[in-house]
Amino acid sequence: MTINTITTSPFPDQKPGTSGLRKQVKVFQAPHYLANFIQSIFDSLTSAEKTTLVIGGDGRYYNREAIQVILRIAIANGYKHVYIGQHGLLSTPAVSVIIRKYKLNGGIILSASHNPGGPDGDFGVKYNVSNGGPAPETFTNKVFEHTKTIARYLIVEGDDIPLDDAGEYEIAGTRITVIDSVSDYADLMEHLFDFDKIHSMFNSGLFSMAFDAMHAVTGPYAREILVKRLGATEESIMNGTPLPDFGKGHPDPNLVYAADLVALMNQKLQSPDLGAASDGDGDRNMILGRQFFVTPSDSLAVMAANAHLLPGYRHGVCGIARSMPTSMAADHVARRMGIKCYETPTGWKFFGNLLDAGLINLCGEESFGTGSDHIREKDGLWAVLFWLNLIAEKKQSVANIVHQHWQGFGRNYYSRHDYENIDMTAAQAMLSDIQTLLPTLSGRAWGDNLVMAADNFSYRDPVDGSLSENQGIRILFENESRIIVRMSGTGTQGATLRLYFEQYQPPAGQLDADTQTWLAPLFAIVEELIQVKQRSGRSAPDVIT
Ligand code: G1P
Ligand code: ZN
Repeated sequence: MTINTITTSPFPDQKPGTSGLRKQVKVFQAPHYLANFIQSIFDSLTSAEKTTLVIGGDGRYYNREAIQVILRIAIANGYKHVYIGQHGLLSTPAVSVIIRKYKLNGGIILSASHNPGGPDGDFGVKYNVSNGGPAPETFTNKVFEHTKTIARYLIVEGDDIPLDDAGEYEIAGTRITVIDSVSDYADLMEHLFDFDKIHSMFNSGLFSMAFDAMHAVTGPYAREILVKRLGATEESIMNGTPLPDFGKGHPDPNLVYAADLVALMNQKLQSPDLGAASDGDGDRNMILGRQFFVTPSDSLAVMAANAHLLPGYRHGVCGIARSMPTSMAADHVARRMGIKCYETPTGWKFFGNLLDAGLINLCGEESFGTGSDHIREKDGLWAVLFWLNLIAEKKQSVANIVHQHWQGFGRNYYSRHDYENIDMTAAQAMLSDIQTLLPTLSGRAWGDNLVMAADNFSYRDPVDGSLSENQGIRILFENESRIIVRMSGTGTQGATLRLYFEQYQPPAGQLDADTQTWLAPLFAIVEELIQVKQRSGRSAPDVIT
């Protein structure tokens, strides 16, 4: 087998964002584009760090083609053993499981997460390191530097590897294993949760659920775990077949994009007891009860308060972390439990060091992501199983579990408003204006909301000491209200401005108000400061969660 050295020249835009390199499919299809980025990853690794690798993706358009290209480059770069998910499929959490279980050097995940797929949609590449988590910024920066000067990549020629059956191959000294995409992940879940108890709950005939896989990667995982191992009915799974264009949907499990599931759960009669959905690559989750939405921030807090009830977490929670824009509901639990709650910048990669150092074993983000130390990624189905186990244990409805939580810890009203694909210059101007206003805000009051501090969040990693600056504008009020403004790092078109609003009510306060009405005074403050509606040209946010 000949190893070809292909001459290439740099692309200027291969800077990984919040979660890997994410671009439109068309961009990735340009000659050499994918190959340059993959070679840059391999060139940024030491030779000891490139012996074993797992490759898989969320099944989106271009997944299979990209896998063959990456495999050829991996072979040419001398990898000893490459694992590939059957049908080219692996959820992001499953990649993390496989890296850890087989002690691999790393993994390449092909996904643009919750962004739409298809020829006109998005594609993405993420590299995960040997702890199973996303590569840290030091590494992705190194890759980006390399993409600016790359002049050649190595690739072998040959037939495509068949991806649809499990099997073993050997090409030019590289062993290739096409593995079952689901079983390693499902086995781990069985260790963490009380499958017998959940099975009995389904068997009783008194409990039903709906899981919306959104035509993305979790369909096969849900079928194996929920239906085969736990006894849920086949009808419990909606949109369970992965499709390259996700059925033309937007595989983002929120109240806007998981509309069918939301409608089902809002039916007055006969709605399932638990509704859940996951995103393109299976790392996000949305949890719904009957006519009830659990905010991801509340979900994290409820998990923290109850983890000790579940087999994998009987030893309790040693520490929690949440991303800065995530509500402070988990902080209240941490305080009560006498443990620390770390506040990190947006993005799962910031949890890795804390998990590895044993400082935390539970973490989450407001963006429908929760996870624990079982892997180093957020994990959609894990969160669903956590809630199933909790319901089986407490024998209460989702809504009752959350209400009881609020009665114990208080409620953090919370909402995020996204202005998607707006003009980049306008977005940057709004951010720079609010940045300029920061020093004038302390001490200012709007009604009951007195500003205590206003800054641009920076984070010093307590484990490796690295500093991450400019991670989002924070306006913090004395009454524990917060307004956060930041720009998305995962969008591929224009700019996406995210506004986050939060207001705390103690257990004795008002716990049942409508969230958007309750938070309206905070929306007005942002409008007054930077006129988002007028300057974005939108009369309302594109997505409210
Ligand atoms: C978004 C979320 C963030 C999450 C990331 C990857 O990033 O806000 O919490 O970690 O997707 O799933 P953003 O677009 O805000 O940079
Ligand atoms: Zn995702």
